[in-house]
Amino acid sequence: MSGIQNRIVGVIGRKGSGKSTRFEELLETRDRIIIFDPMAEHDWTPNELAGLKPVEIAREFFAWAKRKPQWAANFVPGDDLEADLEELSRMVYDRGECAFGVEEIPLVCSANHMPDNFGKLVRTGRHRGVDVFWTAQRAAEVPRTLTSLTDEFVFFSQTEPRDLDAIAARCGSDVADQVGGLGMHDSLHWDVINRQVSPRGVVPRGTTRPPGQDGTGRADPQEAPSHFWLH
Ligand SMILES: Nc1ncnc2c1ncn2[C@@H]1O[C@H](COP(=O)(O)OP(=O)(O)OP(=O)(O)O)[C@@H](O)[C@H]1O
Ligand SMILES: [Mg+2]
Repeated sequence: MSGIQNRIVGVIGRKGSGKSTRFEELLETRDRIIIFDPMAEHDWTPNELAGLKPVEIAREFFAWAKRKPQWAANFVPGDDLEADLEELSRMVYDRGECAFGVEEIPLVCSANHMPDNFGKLVRTGRHRGVDVFWTAQRAAEVPRTLTSLTDEFVFFSQTEPRDLDAIAARCGSDVADQVGGLGMHDSLHWDVINRQVSPRGVVPRGTTRPPGQDGTGRADPQEAPSHFWLH
């Protein structure tokens, strides 16, 4: 897989700052999208995988989507968020070649812990062509392994000293100072490789779009089994 690079993009900011809105903007142009969506808010995707046994619905969905060039779904976990993330991460890893969004990382991880299958995806998803997009309200609550493997950050306002310290440790005190000064819906984009700040990130390059397609990330609603179509 030389020459193929995946992207891991993190969106961090205080509640209501605009993370989920930006997360949607980053994801929606992709051709194959699956979102771990604990708040069931990403109803812009055509398919919602939810209910008493969301993992089983997701399994059916991936079987349906197997050879489809385009599909997009939000997965709404049940009570055991971590167990459902683990099952979903395994399915995403096996499927490969897609964009995986995970909302509210601290609901399923802590600064020192990432569930095994999700950790595997973060560490080795590159070999499966999986791009990962994640959000968190507080920088200090994100696993170090995840921040260390993240290629691009979108920062909205953070004001707690512990969060600014975490940003300083990862991106430098200059970036932390700028994040500390952001207004409510302001953001800045930090590219880890180029160590560059820009006011608004570009949609990161990824591996999810087959050559020659300018897909919209929306599957064709006529094709999917009816119970996926809850939106
Ligand atoms: N750039 C923006 N300018 C003005 N309003 C915005 C902007 N981005 C988002 N909003 C609005 O702010 C509100 C919160 O946005 P959003 O849900 O994206 O925030 P969030 O950071 O994900 O919040 P939470 O931490 O609760 O998940 C929404 O009403 C949204 O329309
Ligand atoms: Mg949100």
